[in-house]
Order: sequence, then structure tokens, then C-alpha cells
Amino acid sequence: MIGRLNHVAVAVPHLPAAITLYRDALGASVSEPQAEPDHGVTVAFVELPNTKIELMCPLGTESPIQGFLDRNPSGGMHHICYEVDDIVQVRDRMRSTGARVLGSGEPKIGAHGKPVLFLHPKDFNGCLIELEQI
Ligand code: CO
Repeated sequence: MIGRLNHVAVAVPHLPAAITLYRDALGASVSEPQAEPDHGVTVAFVELPNTKIELMCPLGTESPIQGFLDRNPSGGMHHICYEVDDIVQVRDRMRSTGARVLGSGEPKIGAHGKPVLFLHPKDFNGCLIELEQI
């Protein structure tokens, strides 16, 4: 049902410093920062040959990742994003197994302009899971 690994997201306290680290120290290609007000984050994508790393820092005062950064001040791995063909079908199937879908349960448009949903980390061995319809 799930397909490719789309990206791994890392919460960072300071986005320009993280971009510099990946671009200059690791020699990766990194996108320009992109504000995602609907998600309360600013993101930049590290482009790797087989996947992407999403660097994200809080945007605004109600950012959903602020609590995570308060607990992990130097940042940390935040979520894993898997690609799916039909996000509503996957959501309904996950719900039928008892997995919790975060928020309203309706897909939001994510950083790539595609519908996304998040599944509760307590239902996935401690990993916050993002599903993205491709
Ligand atoms: Co993501």
C-alpha cells in the first residue's frame, strides 16, 4: 500500500544554519526556504539521489513543531514521509485498524503541493508518519 520513501524530516532550531551545514559541509543541493503557513513551518529540501531530507523550523507562534524543539533544542528527526496512490483510501484503512489520524483527518496540501496526512507516532513504534499522495 505504501510506496517510496518521499522524505525524512528533521526539525531544526535555525534553518539558515542547517542549510549551510548540508550545503557547505556535506556538499548537498538544498532548495530555497519555503514558508508553509498552513503547517506552521518553514522548510528547505536537501535533494539526495534516492530521497529528500526536509529541514523544517517553526513559523509563527503556534507551530506544531515548537514543542518538539523545546524537548530537543538542537533539533532531531521528526517524521518519515511515505508515498501513497490514494490517500483517502489509505486513511480509511488505517482508521479501520485503530490507527489515529492527526488533525481533522482531511488531507492538507503539503510542501510539494500534494495532499498529506499524519498518523499518530504512538501507533507507529514512536515514528510520526506522513503520507503523501503522489
Ligand atoms: Co514532511
